Amino acid sequence: MEEVNNYSGLKIGIIMDGNGRWAVARKQPRTFGHTRGLEAAKTTVKKAAELGISHITLYAFSTENWKRSEEEVGFLMKLISKHLKKEMDFYKKNSIRVKVIGDKSRLPKEIIKEIEDVETATDHFTGLTVCLAINYGGRDEIVRSINKALENKQEITENTISEHLDCPEITEIDLIIRTAGEQRLSNFLLWEAAYSEYYYTDILWPDFTEDNLLAALKWYGSRNRKFGGVK
Ligand code: FPP
Repeated sequence: MEEVNNYSGLKIGIIMDGNGRWAVARKQPRTFGHTRGLEAAKTTVKKAAELGISHITLYAFSTENWKRSEEEVGFLMKLISKHLKKEMDFYKKNSIRVKVIGDKSRLPKEIIKEIEDVETATDHFTGLTVCLAINYGGRDEIVRSINKALENKQEITENTISEHLDCPEITEIDLIIRTAGEQRLSNFLLWEAAYSEYYYTDILWPDFTEDNLLAALKWYGSRNRKFGGVK
């Protein structure tokens, strides 16, 4: 697909939905879908870096995902932890900075260690920032942000709430992409998505390709963003 636009500075978020359905359609366990979903995430991140996108936020595990079976939760935690350890070189080679958003206090110790290692090792990179949303919920993030402001005895304003979000750099998200045909936000980036454009596709996440990303970006380029004003 022809690449015509300049995406530098763009901040996008992705709800990577459909892993389970993708696997079940192949008579495989749901966890297989997550493994293949991780591959799709890597391809997408690499393409985003090439395109000069500024921030990409991936919804890897929500505060609600603990309701899944113990087996699936354990698998996802291991998958993420192994990924962070194994792909340190991938992030370094591509000059990608990694940040994690979400409440880390409920995460297994091993993951917390991998998160700290990868965040520290990639902090100096100035290209793409990947924000991994792990044990993340938009409402939870807003509540934690307000509590941090109150601890600092700050007045609660839009600015103080924005300042105390997990990654204040993504206070404004330009584009949210959701796969697998659902059209809801599912507690993703509630504060940050106030003026986002929403792109939905029926493609299941493990099937998401570079061309699908380009199609979403092209669609975004055609949007007339007014931010409540008149153009
Ligand atoms: C939603 O599909 C997907 C998830 C809850 C997990 C997404 C996680 C990954 C792809 C791993 C990525 C990890 C990193 C570090 C980038 P679903 O299981 O709800 O699918 P379904 O709606 O078809 O059941």
